[in-house]
Amino acid sequence: MIPVCEPTLKGNELKYVTECIKTNWISSHGKFIKEFEEVFAAYCGVKYGIACSNGTTALHLALVSAGIKEGAEVIVPDFTMIACANAVIYSNAKPVFVDADPEIWCINPDLIEEKITEKTGAIMPVHIYGHPCDMDSINKIAKQYSLIVLEDAAEAHGAEYKGKKAGSLGDAAAFSFYANKIITTGEGGMVVTDDKKIAERARLLRNHAFTPERFVHEEIGFNYRLTNLQAAIGVAQMEKVEKLIEARRRNAKLYNEFFEKADWIITPSEKPWAKNVYWMYGIVLEKKSGLNARTARAKLLKKGIETRAFFYPMHLQPAFRKRRGIAGIEGDFPVSTMLSEQGFYLPSSSHLTEDQIEKVAKAVLSLKK
Ligand SMILES: Cc1ncc(COP(=O)(O)O)c(C=O)c1O
Repeated sequence: MIPVCEPTLKGNELKYVTECIKTNWISSHGKFIKEFEEVFAAYCGVKYGIACSNGTTALHLALVSAGIKEGAEVIVPDFTMIACANAVIYSNAKPVFVDADPEIWCINPDLIEEKITEKTGAIMPVHIYGHPCDMDSINKIAKQYSLIVLEDAAEAHGAEYKGKKAGSLGDAAAFSFYANKIITTGEGGMVVTDDKKIAERARLLRNHAFTPERFVHEEIGFNYRLTNLQAAIGVAQMEKVEKLIEARRRNAKLYNEFFEKADWIITPSEKPWAKNVYWMYGIVLEKKSGLNARTARAKLLKKGIETRAFFYPMHLQPAFRKRRGIAGIEGDFPVSTMLSEQGFYLPSSSHLTEDQIEKVAKAVLSLKK
């Protein structure tokens, strides 16, 4: 079986984790936390990094630290992972969904303005599968309506928009370090920002909002801390981040070459202004092929190839449809719906071999024989 994604852990991960155990620094204090925060924030090109327990808590922390208040609306892509919308709901705000761009699969900026109301407080662009969003268009709208921009860069470590790294393209950004991410800490996340106020608030809220008078709390915080053990893995992963990204890009190049002549397969795009890090190599089967993602994936599985479905659109989520008003599901979302029916992603680990990529690509091509 070729798994859809595995972490690449053959560096200093074991050495640094062992150091934590030998020195007893296994909880959320210790040198690796600080080092990971500093190295990762610098990598993104911003001043502050606040490590936390996962990408979802990073999103929640970013939202509340940036001042999203109860009753606010937040513009979120319809084609994304549910954590984006849930983090808004945890902040007592309402996610309002916008359809995807048919080429890059990220939020379509042309459809944002019609969803803005007097309650809108923020836009959450999500860099889907490693391709950055069209940030100039999004930031222009945000400026015009005085909205905060919180990037969800969970899938886009090292991706670039006009030469600037994901994580530095809005007011703050959230990353995930789940095991399938380009760099991982097992579970983990980080808020990154250039804004001192957001950073200080995120640091405070991450740790129960402890004040100098230790057990007196002015507000309700969370335990969203990352452990030193996890940060130790993160520091080791950052030592090879460029190699991991290059491997992802090489995977995409090889897959693209195999699929070049197959006019029924839409491959991931890379806009001239973008560096796509191809976190996951997704393909979309043209409807004219007579195939859909579900049947194609079942056939590939029989050949020992694990794949993953594309996201299920937010406006169709039973969790939101059952609770009318909790999320802005109104409207048409043809692109997001089509992507979820026709799209899926192929094995994408950084350490895939060329032989494995060839095996996968040939199996995909044989779907239409
Ligand atoms: C776009 C996006 N946002 C947020 C998350 C949530 O991250 P985590 O699983 O670390 O909570 C994910 C996870 O895959 C994601 O893909």
